[in-house]
Amino acid sequence: MSRDSFGSRFGALLAMAGSAVGLGNLWRFPYLVGENGGAAFIILYIILSFVICLPIFISEFVIGRRSQENAYSAFRDLSGGSAWRWVGLFTIFVPMVVLSYYSVIGGWSVEYLLKSCTFSFTVGISQAAINTFFVDFVSSTWGPLAAHTAFLLLTMLIVVVGIKDGIERFSKVMMPLLFLMVLSIAIYALTLPGAKAGVDYLFNPDFSKLTGKSCAAALGQAFFSLSLGFGTIMTYASYVDKKENILFHSTATAASDLMFALIAGLAIMPAVFAFGISPQAGPGLVFETLPYVFGQMPAGGLVAILFFLALLVAALTSSISMLEVAVAYLVEEKKIPRIWACVILFVICWVVGALCSLSFGPLSSVKIFGDGIFDFFDNLSSNILMTLGSLLTVLFVGWRLKKTDVYDEFTNGGTLSRSARIFGVLWFLIRYICPLAIAIIFLSGLF
Ligand code: ALA
Repeated sequence: MSRDSFGSRFGALLAMAGSAVGLGNLWRFPYLVGENGGAAFIILYIILSFVICLPIFISEFVIGRRSQENAYSAFRDLSGGSAWRWVGLFTIFVPMVVLSYYSVIGGWSVEYLLKSCTFSFTVGISQAAINTFFVDFVSSTWGPLAAHTAFLLLTMLIVVVGIKDGIERFSKVMMPLLFLMVLSIAIYALTLPGAKAGVDYLFNPDFSKLTGKSCAAALGQAFFSLSLGFGTIMTYASYVDKKENILFHSTATAASDLMFALIAGLAIMPAVFAFGISPQAGPGLVFETLPYVFGQMPAGGLVAILFFLALLVAALTSSISMLEVAVAYLVEEKKIPRIWACVILFVICWVVGALCSLSFGPLSSVKIFGDGIFDFFDNLSSNILMTLGSLLTVLFVGWRLKKTDVYDEFTNGGTLSRSARIFGVLWFLIRYICPLAIAIIFLSGLF
């Protein structure tokens, strides 16, 4: 049976952009920018994205497209059956961990979308009532578990249909819609009186705020946002046609991810500042501050529906890419039918995710190395697993693969002249600069 693949360039691009654009863009990027010197942080983020992350992205792309296999088989076959295959297995394990806790937050966005649809939740409600709702909801047992189940089921239903008919079709419809939704919210937010304070918060450059810590934060955010080090780009790349230009796809994904993060910032911060609220990061921003802000603005009920729908779509286009990594492995390596592969992985992620969900309530006293279960998995994957996955990936491409093979794959057999021209610089970055930079960030995250 021939292997499923993306049917068009546009579809492949949107699926990759979908994997990149996710919760990270909506709830972490705008806050990080504001806290770390506005435009100064954006400049740093752009440099790190294109100098460090783009070569890692390209490395993953080369592995996937060259092998046209799942991550495990790719590492095994490209290294001539060596122990590198365990790195392949590692890159399959990481997205499973991430998906498990990501799905808990995905579930919260399902709940908030449903709540927004009744309007009672976001219109005319006090900040205290919203905070109470949030705390009561996440610390309860059944509501978040049901929402987590719904989110994981949606993810599975898309992946089970396959690459072209499931993942690609979903991304082709949803990504433009997501872009339009967030853009409309941004345009609307910018018209609110007092919005300028939010724009200043995001874009006023303050270079004095750039520290070693903000460098680590920028790189960590770029890894998470571009889905690096956890097999997703590699797996999607294995479904991309051999005629496609790797440089074009990689640059377009990184650029659209950045653009989306900036637009998300413009959708969120001007609105928050227009109502005189100081922004917070993470769940607090999205699930406590924003519902209150929506409740204060004209037509805020509709904006709330748009926003939580956008949040759900952004999370789904990322979660399907995480699930596909292990599905591809089980289908190709273990010969398990796609539907059963999805069911098995659903059960595993559901159980781990359920523990994460319960760690906000009944299991809040359970600590792993001092962290609650959710925070443990989040910190473990963001600070250690993804960074390690990225490091091993660039070491594999830069030091284990043959330079001529990497050149051949990157330039489509030497036929892409621009790619051929920049290959020398890319090779230097992959071999020396990226491993060094990742190692520094990795160590700074540990201590
Ligand atoms: N890249 C995905 C995100 O930003 C994981 O949420």
